[in-house]
Amino acid sequence: MNRKPLAVTIVGAGSTRTPALIGSLVNLKERFPLKKLVLFDIDKSRLDIQKDYIRLVMEEHYPGVELTFTVEEDEAYIGTDYVFVQMRVGGAPMRSYDEKIPLKHGLVGQETCGPGGFAYGMRSIRPMIHMVEKVRQWAPDAWILNYTNPAAIVSVALDKAFPDDKKILNICDQPYSMIKSFAKILDVDMYDLEPRYFGLNHFGWFTKLYNTKTGVDMLPQLKDYLTNHEFKPFNAEQRDPSWLETYKRVNKMLSYFPDHLPNTYLQYYFFPSEIVAESNPEFTRVDEAAIGREVKILDICKKAAEQNSLEGLPLLVGEVHGNMMVEVAESIAYDLNKVFVVMVKNKDIIPNLPADAMVETPGELGAKGAKGYVCGEVDVFYKALLEGQYAYERLTAEACLEENYGKALQALTINRTVVDPNKAKAILDDLMEVNKEYWILK
Ligand code: G6P
Ligand code: MN
Repeated sequence: MNRKPLAVTIVGAGSTRTPALIGSLVNLKERFPLKKLVLFDIDKSRLDIQKDYIRLVMEEHYPGVELTFTVEEDEAYIGTDYVFVQMRVGGAPMRSYDEKIPLKHGLVGQETCGPGGFAYGMRSIRPMIHMVEKVRQWAPDAWILNYTNPAAIVSVALDKAFPDDKKILNICDQPYSMIKSFAKILDVDMYDLEPRYFGLNHFGWFTKLYNTKTGVDMLPQLKDYLTNHEFKPFNAEQRDPSWLETYKRVNKMLSYFPDHLPNTYLQYYFFPSEIVAESNPEFTRVDEAAIGREVKILDICKKAAEQNSLEGLPLLVGEVHGNMMVEVAESIAYDLNKVFVVMVKNKDIIPNLPADAMVETPGELGAKGAKGYVCGEVDVFYKALLEGQYAYERLTAEACLEENYGKALQALTINRTVVDPNKAKAILDDLMEVNKEYWILK
């Protein structure tokens, strides 16, 4: 393969997902070759812990690539071709508030859904807009591939702020992870499966699952399987208990509403009280990740630094996030038009939903960006759910950009995990207090 090497910048490179993303870049280096890799994070200490492992991996597996670690945004973006954005504004300490404050009010405590997702969205919007402005200053033609959460809200805000920017793509790896899990159940290669899907990010449904080798829609077979068997992620052995529970609730959702196969994230909107009852307000997902993924990855990185070698250490590879980001970049860079589930502006994809919604849909990814597949009108149940959720997303983006308390209160009241305006107000006031360094409302 003779492909021109490109420059990539990772924003939020202090994430413990970064080493595995690098492993994916290494594994896919023939398909998406690099000439330069910039790891940018505003938190130097998080970059420093992972630096030696990453440097050693690159020296051993990817020699010749110019490698830069930086806390300077200008340096990060100069001349870059692809920007992979995975910032977490406020880091784990703020994620902890996002998850725990709602639970104190008896509401769902989740980083992207419900009041926690609202607070996180409000934190993410301004830094994301700033990032796009800075990238455009130094790299007007670069592709910005955004994975920053809550992607539903971020994508709406970015679309408002940069309506004419054709090189921003918002994408989530949950459909990818689910398709990989479907493939394992159906005993086929995930790359032979092509979904049809509609909705909003973390709020959508699979309607078809074509096997591109045979042309057969395998969704009926999969739904059959899931009526009798627990849904497990493809990598169940490596997943924490909360994620296994999350996958399992797909079975339950499907039993209530068997038309389509729901994204796991819909559990928070369908079964909020059940989830609150099962949650521990003192130990949420952020704590589970802290004693799981964080420790595992940081230990490997520390060991690499101490011994200044990779001896006895694995090459971490991102089976979901990492591979997907690189495959997406490859499909755009080399105009491959491969199909991914992405976020795009609705226009006429779902004609009976607002044209300005950022819908999640399968689409071909090529040099000109995403061509979302037309889905057609959705039935009244789905339309009602989606309109409410989109109104919540839009009001949240507007509340942030206009610093408008009234819109924030409306947004939370619409959210299916809240509904009661008394609760919405109480939680909004609490969230505003802990987030005051990040956002204000008047
Ligand atoms: C999935 C979602 C992401 C989310 C992540 C959280 O991959 O699609 O949007 O950020 O899960 O994972 P974690 O392990 O940090 O709870
Ligand atoms: Mn996601």
